[in-house]
Amino acid sequence: MALLYATRRIPEAGLAKLRGAGHEVDVSEKDGVLTHDELLAAVAARPYEGLVTLLTDTIGADVLAAAPQVKIIANYAVGYNNISLPDTTARGIIVTNTPGVLTNTVAEFTIAMMFAIAKRISEAERFVRAGRFEGWAPELLLGSDLRGKTLAIVGAGRIGGEVAAAAHFGLGMNIIYTDMKRNEAMEAKVPCTFVEALDDVLPQADVVSIHVPLLPETTHLISADRLARMKKTAYLINTARGPIVDEAALIEALQTGVIRGAALDVFEAEPTIAPALLALDNVVATPHIASASIETRDKMAEMVADNIIAYFTEQTPANVVVA
Ligand code: DGY
Repeated sequence: MALLYATRRIPEAGLAKLRGAGHEVDVSEKDGVLTHDELLAAVAARPYEGLVTLLTDTIGADVLAAAPQVKIIANYAVGYNNISLPDTTARGIIVTNTPGVLTNTVAEFTIAMMFAIAKRISEAERFVRAGRFEGWAPELLLGSDLRGKTLAIVGAGRIGGEVAAAAHFGLGMNIIYTDMKRNEAMEAKVPCTFVEALDDVLPQADVVSIHVPLLPETTHLISADRLARMKKTAYLINTARGPIVDEAALIEALQTGVIRGAALDVFEAEPTIAPALLALDNVVATPHIASASIETRDKMAEMVADNIIAYFTEQTPANVVVA
């Protein structure tokens, strides 16, 4: 069967499935992200026919040239902005991702972030751990309620739809959304209002949650101008991709009270995070873990395996990415 390389250890559920199907899988022994040079050397080391990649691997023409036998790249993520599709297409390489299995987990995490920033959970915990709690006080760490408030979903795909449902049915929030086009299926499931222009959605929202993929056209979608359109009392939640938000503009907006707070699981130059962002109390920052539940990471690993197994048994993998 096929010779495969995984750029980092993924849950055993996926590796066992691949090996059980007869594939030979080499796994990077590094406990961390391969540098680009390490990645180039690793994929060139043996005549690999398939790669299991992560969102931290930049896959472009140089990597593909170093791995001339590769026929399939199975990305262990739903997002695939780390892979140059023009280059894989030019080489006739199939790219797959892991949609669906992480939708609920990311939606739950998004709701958790909404609570964390609106209720000042991280700030309050820092306060307690710093030994500053001197007893109950009428105006200590006042947060905001969510019930009856308006949530704007930017990007009404699977995850955006799930967040909308949880926020509406679970928290009693009003939902507005924007996307390139209306999502009638979502509207049938969740009472929500389509607002065509992002510029018109922002001033109406108490919470703005981002769920678009990272593309050239969504890079810095949330710019200084757009932040200025938000309510001064609004929160921004980003569990999608860091570069969708202009981080420097966000820092300034948070420092100067243009918006009230932000909860961020993703950053513009991961894993580097601007110290000015981390210095702010009105920021909740987590290390890109929105999909990180035990159950979901296992399912993602199995999905990676299923895609590769399907390809090498001459079936179309279920999750082929279409450029
Ligand atoms: C993804 O899948 O794209 C997430 O960012 C990580 O699980």
